[in-house]
Amino acid sequence: MEERQSEEPVRPEDFRVVCLNVPPWPDLLEMFFNRQTENDRADYFLGQALLSEVRTVTVARYFGLFCPKGPGLVGFLGAWFVADEAEIHHIYLDPSFRRKGLGALFLKKFLLYAAGAGSDTVYLEVRRSNEAARALYEQSGFQVTGVRSDYYTEPREDALLMVYNALQQPVEGRGGTVRTPVLMEGALSGASLSH
Ligand SMILES: CC(C)(COP(=O)(O)OP(=O)(O)OC[C@H]1O[C@@H](n2cnc3c(N)ncnc32)[C@H](O)[C@@H]1OP(=O)(O)O)[C@@H](O)C(=O)NCCC(=O)NCCS
Repeated sequence: MEERQSEEPVRPEDFRVVCLNVPPWPDLLEMFFNRQTENDRADYFLGQALLSEVRTVTVARYFGLFCPKGPGLVGFLGAWFVADEAEIHHIYLDPSFRRKGLGALFLKKFLLYAAGAGSDTVYLEVRRSNEAARALYEQSGFQVTGVRSDYYTEPREDALLMVYNALQQPVEGRGGTVRTPVLMEGALSGASLSH
């Protein structure tokens, strides 16, 4: 699938969330990785390991924020679903699409999807110094529940453990009441959605 580029301004409602585990999306994700800066590739992508996970690890589901009108794939979110819990391992927005509310929109759609798929509890770890991500998570309803000392390397740093529980959110933000995993497109089978 070709990605289209355009200078036309895009609005949040132009974006949809797609499932990246199934073809042709892994190839599009690889193209997306390749056009990120070297610095971001080193910091956030595990390169081929991450792509291999997208293609082969069945509990890992990857989602993309996609704008068919112009920029194509602008971000991805990877999570593992085990039993009735999910753990976010990556969320990343192309730097030119940051600070436009898209990360918050993407995360909200993911949380609705997770609750709809039976995972009301969502965990993640974040570097203590990652103020942008911490603010995004806190604003989205995550709370810090613990610290893993020296969890990260290069540079060595603590990880904060954060948890979101859909059933503890205000009703309007509670994915658990929606129970409709309709926000994701890209055809994972019904069976694999119900882990
Ligand atoms: C974290 C990330 C996904 C946020 O995406 P984004 O689209 O820029 O976020 P949004 O525009 O939706 O912002 C949502 C909130 O996050 C916080 N935020 C986002 N970027 C911020 C920044 N640079 N500094 C401080 N707060 C920030 C703000 O609270 C913001 O709400 P506000 O706009 O009302 O102030 C993006 O910065 C990114 O891809 N970073 C690199 C990868 C990364 O660090 N991932 C997390 C690993 S755990």
